[in-house]
Amino acid sequence: MNDKLEQIKQKALSQHVPIMSDDSIRYIVTSLLTAQCKSLLEIGTAVGFSSLFIAQEINDIVITTIERDEDRYRQAKENIIEMNLKDRIDVICADALTYSCNRMVDALLIDAAKAQNKAFFDRFFPFVKPRGIVIVDNLDFHGHTENIEELKDRRNLRQMVNKIKTFEKYIASRSDLSVERVGIGDGLMLIRRIGHSFNFDK
Ligand SMILES: C[S@@+](CC[C@H](N)C(=O)[O-])C[C@H]1O[C@@H](n2cnc3c(N)ncnc32)[C@H](O)[C@@H]1O
Repeated sequence: MNDKLEQIKQKALSQHVPIMSDDSIRYIVTSLLTAQCKSLLEIGTAVGFSSLFIAQEINDIVITTIERDEDRYRQAKENIIEMNLKDRIDVICADALTYSCNRMVDALLIDAAKAQNKAFFDRFFPFVKPRGIVIVDNLDFHGHTENIEELKDRRNLRQMVNKIKTFEKYIASRSDLSVERVGIGDGLMLIRRIGHSFNFDK
């Protein structure tokens, strides 16, 4: 990670902007490289840390990233310009639940409102190419998904955790998908269509 990206990360952490852990983002970069992904749609930009990290590590990937919070969107845009990556990272200020995608991508990264994982998946999975991959972050939700009994008195949190678990079960129930649950960072899921190997050069 270069100095500028480290500064962006430290600023985000000091302002309590949620960003991916280094372990998670490194795993994602490895997965994108393995699958030879050249295009990525990210749901949940925050201030651009994950998309900047990915664009720095994979020099031929193009990224579209969606953020609904206007302040974070503006900050992300500034960071992308400062890091000279505006030709490869397109940040869009929109609610992803209503945003219309108009092109196919090699990879989809879902890292936004955790209770909406299924809505994001249903909306954008049709735009993932047959050999594409989907990565979903924060499935452990800071350990809460394993300890739901402890959330008896925290109704909103319990509901969110239940939605994360329901989404996982839904993906596991789909006979057309293969799922890898990864215990890195805050818990990730790597989803592919069954019967398709990695290779986008076709
Ligand atoms: C965990 S942060 C993203 C972190 C970023 N991927 C990173 O690692 O640098 C989640 C972001 O998703 C945004 N978000 C939540 N729901 C959204 C929606 N429906 N549409 C677009 N952005 C959304 C939030 O405003 C927040 O900034």
